Amino acid sequence: MKTSNFLNVLMAAALVVLAAKLHFVGICCGAGANDSAAASAATPAAAPAGAGATVIDSTGLLPGVKGFGGPVPVEVEVKDGHVVRVAPKLPNEETPGFFQRLADAGLWRAWDGLPVEVAATSRVDAVTGATYSSEAAIANVRAALAVAAGKSREDFAAEAAARARIALPPPSRSAMPLGEALAKRATYRDFSPEPLTDQELSDLLWAANGINRPDLGKRTAPTAMNRQEIDIYVCRADGAYLWDSEANALVRVSDADLRGLTGRMNDGDANFALVAPIAIVFVIDFERQKMQGRPQDAFKYASVDCGFIGQNIYLHCAATGLHTVFLGSLKPEQIARALSLPPASVPLFAQTVGKPAK
Ligand SMILES: Cc1cc2nc3c(=O)[nH]c(=O)nc-3n(C[C@H](O)[C@H](O)[C@H](O)COP(=O)(O)O)c2cc1C
Repeated sequence: MKTSNFLNVLMAAALVVLAAKLHFVGICCGAGANDSAAASAATPAAAPAGAGATVIDSTGLLPGVKGFGGPVPVEVEVKDGHVVRVAPKLPNEETPGFFQRLADAGLWRAWDGLPVEVAATSRVDAVTGATYSSEAAIANVRAALAVAAGKSREDFAAEAAARARIALPPPSRSAMPLGEALAKRATYRDFSPEPLTDQELSDLLWAANGINRPDLGKRTAPTAMNRQEIDIYVCRADGAYLWDSEANALVRVSDADLRGLTGRMNDGDANFALVAPIAIVFVIDFERQKMQGRPQDAFKYASVDCGFIGQNIYLHCAATGLHTVFLGSLKPEQIARALSLPPASVPLFAQTVGKPAK
């Protein structure tokens, strides 16, 4: 495809995503006032605990886990070591329509009658058409079951918090001369599944868009008007993380493996993005960008800013023996939903990174 055509297609796609997101927010806000009431109608009522039963409320156990509309706390009732009831804790912020789908699919009855230890480890599939809501609900049920099985709420919350934020070691810089790295810069699509170490990830992210002049808060990649509007999300098999560049930490935003929403999408299993350990997703934050004028200007500047970061990653990979491929092929709407992005944030490009295939 010619470059001008590619840009037109990209801008059109991104505008559609933004418009769809804004439309979605409008719908949600319109329904918001009645969410709790509608949710009550769509879901089993929270019954009082029967004699000898204990009710575990998952509220606060998984603060970072959200469904499509918000947190999805649940109640799990246990009697004589067996699960007797699972129900959403009301009022609940999740969108009523999604609740209805979970109820229709029988999700709340999936653990009925199981011994707590069995229920805690039993596999329950997400509900098609309400994937994020059901994944969040299932995670909440698991959390409540862990508490029912004897873990203290404090220990569970502390472990969840530790998983929620990974502090990276200070970055080190590659020693290869720039000319040599430029000579080696290339796209590769063969990857080893071997994970990157925290040190390798820290070095990569710093090269991508790290703060290189702390006194000015400026970065290794330039941005139009220094708006620094691109956020970097790191997607791995164990979940997706927002890189907090100031703290040099990964903040968990999803437990799901989102790598397959990037890369080669028509070949199923042949998608190299599912082999490589890291899929980076570049997200524009239009609110931070505050670009006046025509919407296409916002995309124009964000695309260039993103390209600089991509090239930094290319050069870092060339200098450190990693493989990488910059990607226009990704599923922005699905990624936005999975990352619980605010309406003004839109996934723009992605980049696969990993060690060379052996
Ligand atoms: C904006 C942009 C989008 C791209 N999108 C994809 C993509 O979706 N899939 C892919 O395999 N490669 C993609 N690439 C990588 C190009 O195919 C690659 O850079 C090109 O073939 C030149 O090869 P080289 O990087 O080794 O010089 C993209 C590159 C750019 C700059």
